[in-house]
Amino acid sequence: MKKLVVGISMLVAAMSGSVLAADIAAGKTTATTVCVACHGADGNSAIVTYPSLAGQNASYIAKQLADFKSQARKDPVMLGMVAALSEDDMKNVAAFYESQTPKGGKAAADKVELGERIYRGGIAEKGVAACTACHGPTGAGISTSGYPAVSGQHSAYVESQLQKFAEGSRNNDPNRMMRDIAGKLSKDEMAAVASYMQGLSK
Ligand code: HEC
Ligand code: HEC
Repeated sequence: MKKLVVGISMLVAAMSGSVLAADIAAGKTTATTVCVACHGADGNSAIVTYPSLAGQNASYIAKQLADFKSQARKDPVMLGMVAALSEDDMKNVAAFYESQTPKGGKAAADKVELGERIYRGGIAEKGVAACTACHGPTGAGISTSGYPAVSGQHSAYVESQLQKFAEGSRNNDPNRMMRDIAGKLSKDEMAAVASYMQGLSK
């Protein structure tokens, strides 16, 4: 009897595990049929204005997809892409991208010095926090806190997001975390730190 009870509880645990776990194979199907044109077959986008998703934290990806759908993050292209996705589809495609390997990129030599200073130390006189505090020393982010990976991301995409946070047209950041920071950066500072992040690898 004891054995049977243990057996059943192990079976239940295994079943609930498979219900909770994301289905990477299903996510791959979505990614390679719907998302591939812009984000690349393995999540490394070939177009610099489209974000790479390879290696990005799954929890961050799933939040962005839900935000596009609810229009908490407004983008007409992505709104169309997520319209047909269920919560499970989002979780699955997010898990697929997290499992992929980012190709990474390089920083422009003339931007490294300023970019590194801002990324690692912030800008004290303007009250800009160091990016490392949340995005990590290697740009891996902190998955459990909702801080995205930024390493190897296209600098053109990063600059566009910093600009959107600064204007407030992207406002899905909890507690205005990114709007308050980006609003204090000049265009040159945005370009420098974006280039520096493109050169980071986790
Ligand atoms: C026609 C091009 C296109 C297609 C197809 C497309 N996307 Fe996007 N995606 C974009 C653009 C452009 C952005 C950036 C929007 C912005 O500027 O905020 C984006 C942003 C994203 C982001 C936010 C990334 C970040 O770092 O914040 C995620 C996640 C995403 N897309 C996932 C998907 C998924 C999943 C699919 C397929 C179901 C998909 N996309 C299909 C163009 C596309
Ligand atoms: C207090 C924590 C915190 C600090 C410090 C911080 N960030 Fe962020 N950052 C976030 C969060 C949270 C998000 C995601 C918001 C959301 O849910 O959409 C984010 C998102 C971003 C994005 C968008 C990523 C994408 O894929 O779309 C960029 C770019 C970015 N941060 C750059 C920076 C830079 C540059 C600095 C330093 C000058 C910085 N961050 C400092 C918390 C932080």
